Amino acid sequence: MNVVDAILTRRSIRKFTGQVISDKQLNLLLKAGFQAPSAHNLQPWHFIVVKEKKNLEELADNHQYAKMLPQAGCGIIVCGDANKETRVGFLVEDCSAAIQNILLAAHGIGLGAVWCGIYPNTDRASAFSRILKLPENIIPVGLIAVGYPNEEKTAQDRFDNTKIHYETW
Ligand SMILES: Cc1cc2nc3c(=O)[nH]c(=O)nc-3n(C[C@H](O)[C@H](O)[C@H](O)COP(=O)(O)O)c2cc1C
Repeated sequence: MNVVDAILTRRSIRKFTGQVISDKQLNLLLKAGFQAPSAHNLQPWHFIVVKEKKNLEELADNHQYAKMLPQAGCGIIVCGDANKETRVGFLVEDCSAAIQNILLAAHGIGLGAVWCGIYPNTDRASAFSRILKLPENIIPVGLIAVGYPNEEKTAQDRFDNTKIHYETW
């Protein structure tokens, strides 16, 4: 699938077959994450891969909107190193770019994925930091549940002329 087709047809997948993705697929997703643009090219991200069922269940228990995680079979928590944030905001932007890269790569190779937000929910972030044993400077930004899709979603055309402004507002 070419990149434009991937962008135009990607949807959040929340139902999974339960088949766990291979290490080769996982490495490709991580590679996509690492290729994201980042402010000053500081690449502040860390990726925590979770595959153990009981660990996935513990994360899902602490995230109201990530109940699909154990069924997905794999979670990637994208975290940012606050020590590498030169200006407030860059860390979340950089990690978000990495998350989107991973979502698109997953879709491009026939997997399904959904971005489950952690930042800026402080309670959720604290729970994830505790469960994942994150050092103080490592901020969990988002969780990606990824696996083999068990639902089909059609592309949505969201193009909206009223939101396009030329030269000035
Ligand atoms: C910052 C952010 C947080 C999100 N958090 C969740 C979440 O916790 N659980 C979930 O099922 N989907 C979550 N989503 C996915 C959105 O619900 C989804 O992208 C949106 O409904 C558009 O649908 P689409 O991804 O199929 O195009 C999140 C998306 C973003 C960008």
